[in-house]
Amino acid sequence: MLQKLSRDGVDVKNEVVFECSKCSNRLLKWMGRCPHCGEWNSVVEKTEPASRVRFRQASGNESALKPLSEISYDTSPRISAGIGEFDVALGGGIVRRSVVLIGGDPGIGKTTLLMQALGSIAASGNMVIYVSGEESSEQIKLRADRLGINSDNFFILIENDLEAISETLEKTKAQVIVVDSVQSISSRSNDSHPGSVSQVRHVASALTDLVKRGTCACFLIGHVTKEGAIAGPKVLEHMVDTVMYFEGERGHPYRILRSVKNRFGSSNELGVFEMCDCGLVEVRNPSELFLSERAKNSSGSVVTAMVEGVRPILAEIQALVTGPTPGQGRRSCLGPDPQRLALIVAVLEKKLSLPLFDQDIFVNVVGGIKATEPSSDLAIASALISSVTDRVIGERTLVFGEIGLAGEIRRVSRVESRLNEAMKLGFNIIIGPKANLDSKTLSSGTRILPITNISEIMTLLFQESKPKAKMSRPGA
Ligand code: TYD
Ligand code: MG
Repeated sequence: MLQKLSRDGVDVKNEVVFECSKCSNRLLKWMGRCPHCGEWNSVVEKTEPASRVRFRQASGNESALKPLSEISYDTSPRISAGIGEFDVALGGGIVRRSVVLIGGDPGIGKTTLLMQALGSIAASGNMVIYVSGEESSEQIKLRADRLGINSDNFFILIENDLEAISETLEKTKAQVIVVDSVQSISSRSNDSHPGSVSQVRHVASALTDLVKRGTCACFLIGHVTKEGAIAGPKVLEHMVDTVMYFEGERGHPYRILRSVKNRFGSSNELGVFEMCDCGLVEVRNPSELFLSERAKNSSGSVVTAMVEGVRPILAEIQALVTGPTPGQGRRSCLGPDPQRLALIVAVLEKKLSLPLFDQDIFVNVVGGIKATEPSSDLAIASALISSVTDRVIGERTLVFGEIGLAGEIRRVSRVESRLNEAMKLGFNIIIGPKANLDSKTLSSGTRILPITNISEIMTLLFQESKPKAKMSRPGA
C-alpha cells in the first residue's frame, strides 16, 4: 500500500512494512513468528518513507552539480588522542566532524580505552563529553580515579534517550564525544526494542547527522555479543567514517585496536595495548613482547613475521600434534584460520607423506594475535613438522611464506618490513619464498634460505638442530 504525503514541498512516498522488532528482519506480510530470529509476536506493522527519500534527508546533501575545484574542506589539524597507539590506529589522530565506531566483545576494555583517550584530550585543554547509557556517574568517577583522570574539561552525561542526548550535544562546544554504547541508547520516535537493529541504526544515523552539522568528533562504542551479533555494529559500518575493532583473547592481557575502514587514512592500521591495573598501556614494540616468553629448545615452536596493516609483528606459532586417535583427529586453532590449517595439513599429508589424518592437531599463536594472513602458512607447517618429528627449530630462525595447493611457496607482500623487524630482533636464519628473497642481501651473519616448494622445508628447517628422534608415526 502506497500513499503520498507532502513534506518540505517534496512528495514523499510512504510505504507499509512489516518488521521484526527483535532482529529488524523485513517481511512481505505479517507473521506470528519471525522466520529469521524465531521470536514469537515480534512482527509489527510500520509506515515509513521510502528509503531513497530518507537517505537524502539524513545526509542533507545538496543535489546541485559542483565542480571539484570549487569544493573546499576543513584543513584544521587532527586532535591527538593522547595515546600514541590510538593515534596510529586512527591514521594520525582524530579528524574533526568524524564518526568512529569501536566494536568489541563486552569486557575487552572499550570503556577503559575511550576514557583514557578522553582524559588525555581533556588534559590538553579540549572539552570532552562521555555519554554513558550503561554505567552510573559514580561508576564512571570511580574508574576515572583509577585511571588518574582529573580534568575540569571532562563532562559526563548519563542518558539513554537519544532526543535528550541530541539536545544537550547541540548546545555544547565539546571537541570530542563518546557514546557508550550505541546499543544502550534508544529513540522515542522508534518503537523497536532498545538494542534492536532498527534502534541502533536510527541512533547512529541521528548522531552522525548531528556530528556532521557541528564541529566535534564522535566515538560510538558498539558491543559484539553472541546474541547481539544481529544488533551489533556490523549494520552501522557503512554509516560511519571509521570502523575499529578492539580485540584480544580472554585471559591474555594484550589488546589490539584494528582499523578496518577509514575514510581519512589507510585501513588496517593497528595499535597494541596491554591491560594493566592502571588501565591500558601502549605496547610500542609488540614483537619483543610477544617473543619474550618463548620456550627455549622445545619442538613445535617457530617464529613468523606477520604484517598487520603496514606494521610488521613477529609472533611465535606453536603446534602440538598428538595421537593417534580413533577416526579423524581433532583440529583446534587459536589465531590461525581453521580453513587455512585444513589446507596446510592436507598439503603436508600429500606432499611430505606426514601421517596426520588420525592425529589431534592444536595450533596457537602466542599473545592472542590472529594469524589469518596467508604469509604465516609456512610457519604453521614448520611448527607442525617440528612437533610431529620432535625436532627443535633454531631459536633464531624465522619462517614466512604462503603455501599453494601444489605445495609451492608463493610470494608475500611487504617483505622489506618483515626482514627489517626480524633483523632488529636478532634472527639470523630467514626461510621465505624464493620469489621474495632471491634478490635480497642482508647484513653479514644473516643467512637467507629461499624455498620454492614445501618438499624442501625439512632440509632447510633443521640445518642446525640434531634430531631428537627419527621421523616416525607419532604414537606408533
Ligand atoms: P571495560 O573497559 O569496562 O570493557 P568494555 O567497556 O569493553 O566492556 O573493561 C573491563 C575489564 O578491564 C575488566 O575485566 C577489568 C579490566 N580492567 C583492568 O584490568 N584494569 C583497569 O585499570 C580497568 C579500568 C579495567
Ligand atoms: Mg563498557
